[in-house]
Amino acid sequence: MISLDVERVRQHFPAFANTGGSETGSRAGDENWCFFENAGGTLPVKYVVDRLHRFYSKHKVQPYGHAPMQAQAGRDMDEGRTRMAALLGLDVDDLILGPSTTQNFNTLATGFTGLLEAGDEIIISEQDHEANIGAWLRAAKLAGAKAVFWQANAETGELEQAELLKLINPRTRLVALTHSSNIIGSINPLTEIADLLKNASKQKIFLIADGVSYAPHGLPAIDQLAANGVDAYCFSTYKTFGTHMGVMYIHPELSSKLTPQCHYFNTGKRAARFDSAGPDHASIAALAGIADYLEKLYAEHEGASATSLVQQVQACSQAIKKYEHDLAAPVLACLRNKNVRIFGQATMSETREANIAFSTVGATAASVNQSLAQHHIAAGHGHFYAPRVLKRMGCEDLEDGVVRLSFAHYNSLSDVEQLLSALDAILPQRKS
Ligand SMILES: Cc1ncc(COP(=O)(O)O)c(C=O)c1O
Repeated sequence: MISLDVERVRQHFPAFANTGGSETGSRAGDENWCFFENAGGTLPVKYVVDRLHRFYSKHKVQPYGHAPMQAQAGRDMDEGRTRMAALLGLDVDDLILGPSTTQNFNTLATGFTGLLEAGDEIIISEQDHEANIGAWLRAAKLAGAKAVFWQANAETGELEQAELLKLINPRTRLVALTHSSNIIGSINPLTEIADLLKNASKQKIFLIADGVSYAPHGLPAIDQLAANGVDAYCFSTYKTFGTHMGVMYIHPELSSKLTPQCHYFNTGKRAARFDSAGPDHASIAALAGIADYLEKLYAEHEGASATSLVQQVQACSQAIKKYEHDLAAPVLACLRNKNVRIFGQATMSETREANIAFSTVGATAASVNQSLAQHHIAAGHGHFYAPRVLKRMGCEDLEDGVVRLSFAHYNSLSDVEQLLSALDAILPQRKS
């Protein structure tokens, strides 16, 4: 497996360039800020910034026309789409680009309203971000269908398959589920759940997955997920080192059954059927920069390779997971000794990603977050648009919520050391 060299990684991110600036990123400039709010949005990689700058400065015009600048704009957009699709193992026709995942889920759920019938049932996981909940509640209401919640365990926040089984009946049409929780960091076994759905019902039950929290910790091969029963998958590229866009995959068989959400004359184009917003040309073009980056990262660690882009990305994803895992483990170990409640598994594991949420006895999450900032640690606090799981777990003040430390593979060991000494200074020791 690739062993990630963080100094090499950081050279690809302009925020770490030693420009003397002070405002962004961990150890960006001379102020020693360490950035642990990556689940809110990651720093953009150099090649994305370069491509965006080139598009805006050289050919920010209506693309695909006769003028050279129009032709170039079109070529750049095509490259953005084809490279992004290749990263994920997808056919370019199956890559849908929207302004955000929230918008993409709204579009997808609206597309479902023609397929759902009165009396049908949909199952929504309580662990999800509201983007993959609200859209389905609204679609169910429009279609006269019933929405039921797959409740999370009140103690652990986990989703238990036995609970899901109890909810399935012959009217169940879909399950909306997050690939991993942006609060407790647990990874849900999508393939296992797809199998469970297949075995539990004679009727097809569609599995709709939210990959927004999962993808920054290693992009998934969506073709593999699709082959194993995931019918739709969404994630956001501003959380995977790119521009502010949402990627959506819909299995072609499902896509053909849904009501298109595009202009009538575009319904024959698979990639356009669920383009309900009109794309941001420059942001699409710049997505190719994510591919540039992962290709370079692979080459720097493994040398030139004849393997496909998606295989290179998978090798990088494995390395990123392992690297982040090693960074997060001592932070969890530190928190286990503090007078805090950790939301989610208290140790790193194969089924946990490097997002750590906790609450403190006797101090608000807001005040802990502020204290962390005094130590130049950028963290987050609140419910992160996933208040339902926090409520289930007994969080009383949802606005205050929990403190969240979310890692990216450009965080360094010295960032973690700074974080650990800040936690030691701020949090009371657990009384044994
Ligand atoms: C797990 C999860 N799902 C969905 C979303 C919504 O994504 P977007 O901001 O692209 O609408 C977020 C955003 O933070 C998220 O964390």
